[in-house]
This record gives sequence, structure tokens and C-alpha cells, in this order.
Amino acid sequence: MTWTDALAVGDDLIDTQHRAFFDEVNAVVTALRSGAPRQHVQSFHRDFIIALARHFRDEELLLARVNYPDYDHHQAEHRALMASVSALSEILAGADSHGELLMVVRNTVTALVEHMALEDMRYRRYVSGSRAESW
Ligand SMILES: [Fe+2]
Ligand SMILES: [Fe+2]
Repeated sequence: MTWTDALAVGDDLIDTQHRAFFDEVNAVVTALRSGAPRQHVQSFHRDFIIALARHFRDEELLLARVNYPDYDHHQAEHRALMASVSALSEILAGADSHGELLMVVRNTVTALVEHMALEDMRYRRYVSGSRAESW
């Protein structure tokens, strides 16, 4: 999974957080390939949820600051995404094969990348617009 500047939203904090998700996911995939146990994926998943909650909070603060007109929709998307990522912890607890563990990681990643590519890209022009105004 490779970060690309095409995914940048133009806010340093948010772009750093988005990029860090890519790094963390790549690290856990590498660990799984070299035989890391379920506990490793579970601890990744726990940290990931904490980072995701912090990211959603920071992103919603940004959206409020730039008066993003679709704020409520975006916040609802965050809540739904958090619910589906959190629900994976039950699957993880019962996973007993590498295939299942990889599937959980893949589902987590897919949900996040889809959100970044579809929803986060929609607020990008409001972030750059607010920057232009402050110059
Ligand atoms: Fe985001
Ligand atoms: Fe978002």
C-alpha cells in the first residue's frame, strides 16, 4: 500500500495522520507475512482504533473550521466507519488462521482507503479555499 500525493488534502496534520495509517498498515502486513501471531494483529487493531478516533476528531475540527457544508454527512461516515472497524475485534478474537487475520487487516484497510479516496477528497477544495483566503 503506497501513499500518493494525490490523496493529500492540504492540511499538514491530517496529511501526516493519513500517511501514518499507510505506514502502520504496511508494518502489520509485513509482520503477518513473517509469521506474527494473532496478538500482534490485535494490538495493531487496538492502536489503530485509538489513532482513528484521534484522527476523526482532528479532521472534524478542521471541517468545522473551514465551514464544510457537508459536515454532518462526513461525521456520520466517520461514526459508521468506526463502528465497522471496531466490530472487527470480535472476528480477530476468534481468528485462528493467518488467512483470517489478513482478511481483517484487509477489511480495515479497504474501509479506510475508500473513505479517504471518496469522502476525504470531497472536502479538499474547502481546505485549500480557506488557505487562499487567509493569504
Ligand atoms: Fe481522514
Ligand atoms: Fe474523514
